[in-house]
Amino acid sequence: MSPTPKTHVLVTGGAGYIGSHAAVALHEAGYAPVLLDNLHNSEMQVVDGVRKLCDHEVPFHAIDVRDASALESLFRDCIEAGNPIQGILHFAAHKAVGESVAHPAMYASNNVGGLGTLLQVASAFDVRNVVFSSSCTVYGEPDVVPVDESTPFQEAESPYGWTKQACERVLKDHAATHVAHRVALLRYFNPIGAHPSALLGELPLGVPNNLIPFLTQAVAGIRGALTVFGGDYPTPDGTCIRDYLHVMDLAEAHVAALRWCFDQTAHTPVVRSFNLGTGQGASVLEVIQAFERATGETVPFTMGERRSGDVVSIWADASRAKEELGWTAERSLEEALADAWRWQQRLKTR
Ligand code: NAD
Ligand code: UFG
Repeated sequence: MSPTPKTHVLVTGGAGYIGSHAAVALHEAGYAPVLLDNLHNSEMQVVDGVRKLCDHEVPFHAIDVRDASALESLFRDCIEAGNPIQGILHFAAHKAVGESVAHPAMYASNNVGGLGTLLQVASAFDVRNVVFSSSCTVYGEPDVVPVDESTPFQEAESPYGWTKQACERVLKDHAATHVAHRVALLRYFNPIGAHPSALLGELPLGVPNNLIPFLTQAVAGIRGALTVFGGDYPTPDGTCIRDYLHVMDLAEAHVAALRWCFDQTAHTPVVRSFNLGTGQGASVLEVIQAFERATGETVPFTMGERRSGDVVSIWADASRAKEELGWTAERSLEEALADAWRWQQRLKTR
């Protein structure tokens, strides 16, 4: 189904890191994003950035996805305005692994409970197309790399990981009982970078847990030296390997996944998982070197102890996304790192 100006798509978590970039990609592809966020982990300035990039007053609703009556009003208002919601990109969730260990019930309530409420309301309004933010964390420590979608799930390593496994299951079970539901489960590897305009990027609150925000803040002098967590892993240079993909590539994958949903013609439910990564692994030391090449800056770092819970090596076999969604990651690691650095420099001046 080609987008028309009337194809309205609800973007939950639309003021967040990935949701905001996806909203811009949706707009560029001809869809009309409708943003929803409770601003728990984001700011209205992000919505301003989306509006600026879209050159358009993209609607924003400050709603908690667990608030069924607020959701009902939103779906109803959209219908009454002649702009029914036809698909959902569901990003809204808590995402910090360490926080999930400290607050497992909060993670279950928000991530699994939020999805449950959203699905109940969406079904009542006959919204059948859902693209869900899952994670490669569902695979845990894989026996073989790269991992494809048939790789069995391991026991979740954190309550956060469990919520992603549980949400995938909820979506499968829900779709199975509803006619013509189409669900794309997108298993992201490691999204990094920012919009090349530096109008959008990641807004980590407090000390970043993730590699790239910590690295850029260290280079900017906001933090001390980056600690590389473990140099004695069984990898070529001793540091962990991940599959880092540019957030704009990831954003565009959501457009492809939504199109895939709209293109399904079967009356039976269709639920399909897709790995989203570059298919290339990079070690922590390789990321540091790539950053230095891309920006000309020097990264201050020291080698430290292993971080508990870290997977040693994981990268994606993303061939299913290529074959079935027509999507591949196009941007290089260096490009993503240069964009992350440009965003970090802009943050300083905000
Ligand atoms: P983010 O925190 O930047 O964005 C999530 C947004 O959802 C935030 O703006 C937050 O305020 C909002 N939100 C949270 N709970 C909500 C609720 N109950 N109601 C309404 N809004 C709510 O995170 P992100 O990096 O953009 O991640 C988006 C999704 O992708 C999440 O589901 C996350 O688990 C998943 N994911 C992220 C990564 C990553 O490395 N960033 C990797 C794999 C999967
Ligand atoms: N790392 C460091 N120093 C740091 C931060 C990270 O050396 O200060 C290393 C980690 O040990 C790891 C790599 O950099 O080897 C990447 O770490 P991140 O924290 O950036 O990413 P993870 O792969 O650990 O986890 C991310 C998300 C999780 C998600 C997972 C899979 O943070 O939410 O990808 O999607 F579950």
